[in-house]
Amino acid sequence: MSSPRRPPRAVLLLAVSFITLAISAAVRAQEDYDYDEKVNPPPAAQDRCIGVFLTYTFISRTKEYPHVKNASAQSYAFKSTAAVLNTMTTDLPAWNMFIGFQHHEILVSASGAVITDGTDFPVNVENGTSLSGFPQTDLMNAIDTAGDLSQIRVEMHFTGTQFGVKPPGTPMPRTIKLLNDGYKCPAPTKKGSQMYVCCVKDPKFKAKKTEETRFLPRRYGDLTIAYDVLRSYDSNYMAQITIDNNHPLGRLDNWNLTWEWKRGEFINTMKGAYTLRKDISDCIYGEAGNYYQSLDFSTVMNCEKKPIIVDLPPEKEKDDALGNIPYCCKNGTLLPPTMNITQSKAIFQLQVYKLPPDLNRTVFYPPQNWKINGFINPNYVCGPPIRVSPMEFPDPNGLMSETEAIASWQIVCNITRPKSKHSRCCVTYSAFYNESVVPCNTCACGCSEDAACNPVATALLLPPEALLVPSENRTAKAKAWASINHRHVPNPLPCWDNCGVSMNWHIVSNYRKGWTARITLFNWADYTFKNWFVALEMDKFYRGYEKVYSFNGTKLQGPGRINKTIFLQGLEGLNYLIAETDGKDPSVDPRVPGKQQSVISFTKKETPGINIVKGDGFPTRLYFNGDECELPDDIPTASGPRHSVSQLAVVLFTVVALLSTVDYF
Ligand SMILES: *[C@@H]1O[C@H](CO)[C@@H](O)[C@H](O)[C@H]1NC(C)=O
Ligand SMILES: *[C@@H]1O[C@H](CO)[C@@H](O)[C@H](O)[C@H]1NC(C)=O
Ligand SMILES: *[C@@H]1O[C@H](CO)[C@@H](O)[C@H](O)[C@H]1NC(C)=O
Ligand SMILES: *[C@@H]1O[C@H](CO)[C@@H](O)[C@H](O)[C@H]1NC(C)=O
Ligand SMILES: *[C@@H]1O[C@H](CO)[C@@H](O)[C@H](O)[C@H]1NC(C)=O
Ligand SMILES: *[C@@H]1O[C@H](CO)[C@@H](O)[C@H](O)[C@H]1NC(C)=O
Ligand SMILES: *[C@@H]1O[C@H](CO)[C@@H](O)[C@H](O)[C@H]1NC(C)=O
Ligand SMILES: *[C@@H]1O[C@H](CO)[C@@H](O)[C@H](O)[C@H]1NC(C)=O
Ligand SMILES: *[C@@H]1O[C@H](CO)[C@@H](O)[C@H](O)[C@H]1NC(C)=O
Ligand SMILES: *[C@@H]1O[C@H](CO)[C@@H](O)[C@H](O)[C@H]1NC(C)=O
Ligand SMILES: *[C@@H]1O[C@H](CO)[C@@H](O)[C@H](O)[C@H]1NC(C)=O
Repeated sequence: MSSPRRPPRAVLLLAVSFITLAISAAVRAQEDYDYDEKVNPPPAAQDRCIGVFLTYTFISRTKEYPHVKNASAQSYAFKSTAAVLNTMTTDLPAWNMFIGFQHHEILVSASGAVITDGTDFPVNVENGTSLSGFPQTDLMNAIDTAGDLSQIRVEMHFTGTQFGVKPPGTPMPRTIKLLNDGYKCPAPTKKGSQMYVCCVKDPKFKAKKTEETRFLPRRYGDLTIAYDVLRSYDSNYMAQITIDNNHPLGRLDNWNLTWEWKRGEFINTMKGAYTLRKDISDCIYGEAGNYYQSLDFSTVMNCEKKPIIVDLPPEKEKDDALGNIPYCCKNGTLLPPTMNITQSKAIFQLQVYKLPPDLNRTVFYPPQNWKINGFINPNYVCGPPIRVSPMEFPDPNGLMSETEAIASWQIVCNITRPKSKHSRCCVTYSAFYNESVVPCNTCACGCSEDAACNPVATALLLPPEALLVPSENRTAKAKAWASINHRHVPNPLPCWDNCGVSMNWHIVSNYRKGWTARITLFNWADYTFKNWFVALEMDKFYRGYEKVYSFNGTKLQGPGRINKTIFLQGLEGLNYLIAETDGKDPSVDPRVPGKQQSVISFTKKETPGINIVKGDGFPTRLYFNGDECELPDDIPTASGPRHSVSQLAVVLFTVVALLSTVDYF
C-alpha cells in the first residue's frame, strides 16, 4: 500500500544510519586514541593459546567525591576492559567469564555483557561477578569465520566505582577465569595493568550427551522458562513462553514476571497473560514511533523497557482474544509438580515488534534480566537466556509429525535461601515443659529503619495466648509476662517480626514409645491462600514420622534434603488458609488471623536416643508455600526434671484456646 513511498524513506534511513555510524565511529576512534596510550598490545601468550584467551585490562581511574583523608575509604571512578577470544577450532556457546574483583567494586555499566544472574546495574561486585555475553552470547571459531575477530572475540567495557588502593597502585582483580563446563583455567598472569589467562578444554571432562548440535543442552533448574519463537516475519515475531515448575517445594502465587528489552522491542499483543501497565508513551516518543509511523499504537499492549507480566484470571481461559492457550489463566498460581502436574506449568504467547537493525526474520534477541516472584513464595534467581536446540511441539492436528520452533532459548531459575531478616514467614516454638513461647526473631521479615522499636534486641518471650493476636496488640501481654517472670524489658521494645505468615511448633507430649507435636499456621495477611502447603524438614526424627491427623502428610522422595522432608497440605475442601479478619466487635477485639492446625505423631522405635526434653523435637527447616521460614534463634528449655501442675494447666488452656478458635470458618 505504501510501497511508492518506501524507497525515499529507506534512503533517508540509510543516510541517517550512515551518519550515526560515522559519528559513533569517530567518537570511538577518539576514545581508542585515549586508551592506546596506556593499553599494552595483546600479550604474545595469546598466539600460543589453543583454547579461550581471557584478558582484563585496567584503563584509568579518577578520584570521586567525597574526597576523604582515610585512603582506604576513598572512592575512585574506574574504567577497564575485558575480552574473551576463542582460539579453538570449535565454537564456544554461551560464554561465561568470572572476574574476581576485590576492591569493593561497584559496576555501574558494562557494554557487551550482562551479569549472569540478571542483576541490574549498579551492582556490588566486591566478591567477584560472573558475566555472560549480550548481544554476542556465543563465540564462533576462526575456521568457520575466516578469522573474523568480530565473531570470535568479544570485548567488554566497564565503568564503576572502587575503594582504597592508594595511587600509583593499580587495582586489579584477584583472578579471571572461564566458568563454562569442561574448561580448565590456570592462575592468570599479571603484567602491570593487564592480566590474562589461556583456558583450555579439560580432556577428562565428559559432556553428558554428545549430541552433535551447535546448541547447549537444556539444563535442570528449580524453575525453567522456555522462550520459543514460533513464527517470524521481517519486523516482528511470535514467541511462546513456557514456565515449568520442577522443584517439589517450588511454588508461585500471583506471579509477576519481568525482563528487559535490550534492542528497543515492544509487545504488540499477548495471549494467556497481560502486562500490568498498558504504557505506550515510550513508543510514541521513542524510536519505535519514529519507525512504525503508520502503526496504530493505541492497540499496542506495552512499550516499557521492563514490562511486568501477570497471569490472566481463570475467567479468561476460554476467551478467544486474550486466553485460549493451553495451561494459561490460573491467576498466577504454579503448584509443585507433586501437588498437581497440570498446575505446575504456565504458557503465554506474545507478538514482538523489532527495530532496525534487527529487521530480518532470522534475527532475534531474547530479552535479558529475567525475574519472577510471587506472594509468600520462594525467591528465584534466574540466569540469562541460553540458546538451546529448537523445541519440538506435537502437531496441532494430531498427526505424528512434530513442529519445531524457529529458535529456542532456556532461562534457568533456582531457588535461593532467604537471607536472615528477609524471610516472608517465621516460626515460634513452644513445648509442654516450658510455659513461655519462644517468639519469631525480631525483624524476621524485615523492619523499616525509622520504626520506633529496637531492630537488634532479642525478641521477648511471650505467654501462649499472645500468639493469637496481631503483633501490634501483643505489647501489653509481653510486658506483663516479662514482669511476672522477672525478665528485663529493653527500652525501646524489640521490633516484631512483620511476617505475613507465622507457624507455631509445639511439643505436646513425650512418652516412652513416642511423642507428638502440634503445628499451627497463622495468616496475618489480607490474602487467602488456596492449596497451601507446609514442608517439614527434620534431620533427627524423620524416620520416626508416623502420621498427621487433620492434614494430608506425605514423605517426599528426592535428592539430598528433600529425602528428609514431609509435605503437609490441607485435606480436600479444607485447603484454604483464610485472610486475617476483623474481631467480633472491632472496637474492642483485636483482628483475628486465619488459622490451620494439626497434630503429628512420631514413634521413637526408629530414632533411639532421641531426647525430646533436651530439644531434639524441633525441625531443621520449615517452609510455607515453598518459602523458607525463619526459625527462632532459641528453643524452649526445661528448668528441672519435674513440671508443676500450674504449668501443665496453662499448657492445657493453650491447647483448648487454640483448638477452639481454629475451625470456626
Ligand atoms: C578507614 O576506612 C575503612 C573502610 O571504610 C575503615 O574500615 C577504617 O576503620 C578507616 N580507618 C580510619 C583510621 O578511620
Ligand atoms: C562478600 O562476601 C562477604 C564475606 O563472605 C559477605 O559478608 C558480603 O556480604 C559479600 N558481599 C556481597 C555483595 O555479596
Ligand atoms: C485472583 O487473584 C486476585 C489477586 O490476588 C484476587 O483478588 C482474585 O480473587 C483471584 N481470583 C480468583 C478467581 O482466584
Ligand atoms: C494426599 O496427597 C497425595 C499427594 O498429593 C494424594 O495422592 C492423596 O490422594 C492425598 N490423600 C488424601 C486423603 O487427600
Ligand atoms: C489438577 O488441577 C486440575 C485443574 O485445576 C484439575 O482438573 C485436576 O483434577 C487436578 N488433579 C489432581 C490430581 O488433583
Ligand atoms: C538476514 O540475516 C541472515 C543471517 O544473519 C543474512 O544471511 C541475510 O542476508 C539477512 N537478510 C537481510 C535482508 O538482511
Ligand atoms: C507484582 O507487581 C506489582 C506492581 O509492581 C505489585 O503491586 C505486586 O505486589 C507484585 N506482586 C507480587 C506477587 O510480587
Ligand atoms: C541451578 O541449579 C542447577 C543444578 O541444581 C545448576 O546446574 C545451574 O547452574 C543453576 N543455575 C543457576 C542460574 O544458578
Ligand atoms: C531417599 O530415601 C529412600 C528411602 O529412605 C531411598 O530409597 C532413596 O534412594 C533416597 N533417594 C535419594 C535420591 O537419596
Ligand atoms: C490493636 O492494635 C491496633 C493498632 O495498634 C489498635 O488500633 C487496636 O485498638 C488494638 N486493639 C486492641 C483490642 O487492643
Ligand atoms: C523457657 O525457655 C526459655 C528459652 O529457652 C528460657 O529462657 C526459660 O528460662 C525457660 N523457662 C523455664 C521456666 O525454664
